[in-house]
Amino acid sequence: MDNQKNFYIQTFGCQMNEHDSETLAGMLTELGYTQIFDEKDAQLVILNTCSVRENADQRFFGTLGQLKKLKEKKPGFTVAVCGCMMQQQHIIDTLKAKYPWVDLVFGTHNIHEFPKLIDNVMNERRKLVEVWPDGGEIVEGLPVKRLYPFKSFVNIMYGCNNFCTYCIVPYTRGRERSRRPEDIVAEVKKLAEDGVKEITLLGQNVNSYGVSPHYGGYCYKEEENGVDFAGLLYLLNEIEGIERIHFMTSHPKDLSDRLIQAFVDCDKLCKKIHLPVQAGSTEILRRMNRKYTKEQYLELVKKLRAAVPDIAITTDLIVGFPGETEEDFQETLDLVRQVEYDSAFTFLYSIRKGTPAEKYEDQVPEEVKHDRFNRLVEQIHEIQGRKSRRYQDQIVKVLVEGLSQRNSETYAGHTDFGKTVNFNGTPDLVGKIVEIKVTEAKTFSLWGEVVRVIG
Ligand code: SAH
Ligand code: SF4
Ligand code: F3S
Repeated sequence: MDNQKNFYIQTFGCQMNEHDSETLAGMLTELGYTQIFDEKDAQLVILNTCSVRENADQRFFGTLGQLKKLKEKKPGFTVAVCGCMMQQQHIIDTLKAKYPWVDLVFGTHNIHEFPKLIDNVMNERRKLVEVWPDGGEIVEGLPVKRLYPFKSFVNIMYGCNNFCTYCIVPYTRGRERSRRPEDIVAEVKKLAEDGVKEITLLGQNVNSYGVSPHYGGYCYKEEENGVDFAGLLYLLNEIEGIERIHFMTSHPKDLSDRLIQAFVDCDKLCKKIHLPVQAGSTEILRRMNRKYTKEQYLELVKKLRAAVPDIAITTDLIVGFPGETEEDFQETLDLVRQVEYDSAFTFLYSIRKGTPAEKYEDQVPEEVKHDRFNRLVEQIHEIQGRKSRRYQDQIVKVLVEGLSQRNSETYAGHTDFGKTVNFNGTPDLVGKIVEIKVTEAKTFSLWGEVVRVIG
């Protein structure tokens, strides 16, 4: 075995976690480790976990079970686990009882401590469990090893204060804390200098950027000339070299007229919005603690489309929330038909320990949930196909990301409205923005031919 130190990271969950994994990879690279992409050859495996639904938990425990075999075979093989699952005491208890061979456990709030923790584990062969109950001040300047040279995530805030009754995230990510605008602008300028063209701003609820003053987090109301989320977009829109700005996620309750105006004014802001609705019934929305009604949501969609007629709108939907009746579900179908989403993520409600909805007594039977889920997906796909066909024969702008995963001769990228486009290309196009004429508009992706390279 060679002496080169290497690591493998497996990431579960959302972009927030993907970005945290990039930070962990950045730290390990600074410590002299090499990232590899096959766990069997790794000396250190890190599992960055998600807890948003039960199947995420199960996948983690399944993977951990497999790693035990490697641990038995390879001396010195080290396993570290982190992420949202670790912020829950019942998970820590399970790990201690059933997986005592795990070497390092840390949480979402002390990622910056990782170099110190891993050093202790590797050099002193000590087992460590170090999880903080909540986040402290934001730590700036952590190293990041980005997966792509031409696009990047940028965290603008951490945590969530919304406490939707089904959701574990406020318990695993703590309270809302926003980064200072000058730190974000400096990071994006640096990214642009490094050749990044596309940034995705991350937060559980970006619309409340700068609203909550926690742990010294930025609060625009406390500053002279404070910058809210729309203000931040205007600042980032000015940065030379950046061509595209995306953000996610937006909570409908905080979507401001200023943000809608920013879509009109900021040429780099992609004309797409992910606006999770979760359900169509106002009563279910109330029980979910979403703080808007079906009518208010539809009104927002109307305002967005009035300002930006072609805006692509996507959403998240949960079926089978406790107490959901067939009538409630029909309201969801009705909303989906009225909005005509460009695409939607659909989830079966999953009970999360410690959330208010865990205690709701009227849980919906599994077979009813599945039946509704199938009907909803069918409706969404029908609309998605129809919406996608409007791009037939159009010229679309695509940031070329690399070879398509499906086919090793086809290249793929995304339009500025978030649609995947496949086409015959060459390696030199990767990282460039090209114009593509759509020759076939399918439900989930577009196919086309390059007509012009923009650069
Ligand atoms: N902060 C984002 C979403 C984060 S979680 C927002 O509020 O929009 C991503 C999605 O997972 C949610 O939008 C919701 O649709 C889904 N989700 C969260 N908790 C869930 C649960 N207990 N069961 C099923 N789906 C859930
Ligand atoms: Fe979860 Fe609601 Fe916060 Fe989104 S807004 S992370 S769904 S609690
Ligand atoms: Fe999962 Fe945590 Fe993201 S629970 S969805 S990884 S914030």
